[in-house]
Amino acid sequence: MRSLLTLLIGQTMLWTGCLCLLMASLGSGAPLGGAKKSPNKLLLISFDGFRWDYDRDVDTPNLDAMAADGVKAAYVTPPFITITSPTHFTLLTGKYIENHGVIHNMWFNTSSQEKKPYYMTQFVNEWWDNGSLPIWITAQRQGRKAGSLHFPGTASSYQGERALVTDVEPRFYNYANETAWRENVDKVMGAWFGGQDLDFVSMYFGEPDSTGHKHGPDSPERRAMVRQVDRTVGYIRESARRHGLADRLNVIITADHGMRSVLRDGLVDEIILSKIPGFSFKDLSFHLVDFGPVGMLLPKEGKLETVYNALKGGHPNLHVYKKEEMPSRLRYSNNPRILPLLLIADPGYVINGFATLQFNKGEHGFDNEDMDMKPFFRAVGPSFRRNLEVGPFETVNVYPLMCHLLGIQPEPNDGSLDATRHLLASYEARTPEDHREIMSSVSTGLAAVAGFLVVVFLAVTSHAACQKRKAQKSMQYKMHSEEKEPDTKQTTM
Ligand SMILES: *[C@@H]1O[C@H](CO)[C@@H](O)[C@H](O)[C@H]1NC(C)=O
Ligand SMILES: *[C@@H]1O[C@H](CO)[C@@H](O)[C@H](O)[C@H]1NC(C)=O
Ligand SMILES: *[C@@H]1O[C@H](CO)[C@@H](O)[C@H](O)[C@H]1NC(C)=O
Ligand SMILES: [Zn+2]
Repeated sequence: MRSLLTLLIGQTMLWTGCLCLLMASLGSGAPLGGAKKSPNKLLLISFDGFRWDYDRDVDTPNLDAMAADGVKAAYVTPPFITITSPTHFTLLTGKYIENHGVIHNMWFNTSSQEKKPYYMTQFVNEWWDNGSLPIWITAQRQGRKAGSLHFPGTASSYQGERALVTDVEPRFYNYANETAWRENVDKVMGAWFGGQDLDFVSMYFGEPDSTGHKHGPDSPERRAMVRQVDRTVGYIRESARRHGLADRLNVIITADHGMRSVLRDGLVDEIILSKIPGFSFKDLSFHLVDFGPVGMLLPKEGKLETVYNALKGGHPNLHVYKKEEMPSRLRYSNNPRILPLLLIADPGYVINGFATLQFNKGEHGFDNEDMDMKPFFRAVGPSFRRNLEVGPFETVNVYPLMCHLLGIQPEPNDGSLDATRHLLASYEARTPEDHREIMSSVSTGLAAVAGFLVVVFLAVTSHAACQKRKAQKSMQYKMHSEEKEPDTKQTTM
């Protein structure tokens, strides 16, 4: 009897201990514990045209330090068409380009033949405000304060609303001026996050895109510009510390697309549409060509088949699609703004109209499966795990991640937090699956304790059962975490 009593007391202590541990770990869970605090601030930075592998042939001590303190993706996949305004608007909305409507850098009118270049298109409000809300507006409608500096789309209003604080660059802007970059960083950290207490800021730098276009992605000039970007990344983090923001600011640094060397005459047979037999510009009522590797055509009434048949097979590196036969994986078809015929050049080729008048050594706009079109992705801050390298994901998923970080409800979008959840510090502490597991463990524990108090016999036999369950549980945890992180590996640093 005495030994039975000892056993009973032992059992009670064991169960209580089990229960306490479970309650404690449940209570410290991030979603419960973090709910009281206001969310951290968030800075989204784009360095235009920063290809995923630009840190491979340049020393980047500041990017390396950021990766050691935060998260680095192998690369990210932008939406097609891989050009600046459309892909940036995907970052801001989480939608593929056919779903947000900013289908090109250039606004155009097929009746008047008018085209507006990149900068002027920033001010065509109805081009941007086409039914999708960028994150600035969604955040503000839910009590957050947003700002944007030079980010594509900043100049526009959306359903009559715009970001609270905006800075749009002047017309002929020097996008490469490092002194101006630093002034802008200090303005965002000091006046915007500090003074105006903004919760979210998007910030855009026009490099290394311009240098990549002009000198090519393999040039010493591009490598020098990557060093400038790296210095700026160091400056951004230093400025955040100087303004007392380091422990409540999350920073995401990414880009809109990559860059690829253009293949030139002598090396290859360039694509010049006017030289293709059977094709005539007279059969078109509007065309958008001479802007890199993608073209769009509006044939005249009754001329679609003529133009299509002439161009199809007209050059071995030119792909011609009717809008409705575009490969669905490109997600660039289902929008009234996209013209009836699409031309896509193979990686390295550009589409010329009458003559080779494109002189860039580097170009983008190619198929988003081309590795040279993939941008980089880095993140650091209190909400991110540390020293973690993850596999690739699509840039549509950045938007739901940002909404989660800001504690706001996202608009309908094409991304998913599931693609980036493993980047979060809260994931490391606890996952929703673990929560469910713990909740069921708690009820199991409670039921067992109650059962023990009523029926002594059960308590005696349950010891063995408990041990067995624990063994199974730890096994389950192991398998769970392995299968959930297929692309994740801890960096060696
Ligand atoms: C496009 O041009 C046509 C013809 O000049 C004009 O009637 C129409 O209003 C223009 N549309 C837009 C959206 O500017
Ligand atoms: C989007 O723009 C197209 C014209 O380019 C227009 O017909 C359509 O109504 C716009 N949709 C919204 C929701 O603004
Ligand atoms: C660079 O920016 C600084 C600060 O805005 C300005 O004073 C300087 O004139 C600029 N330099 C060039 C070459 O544009
Ligand atoms: Zn760009």
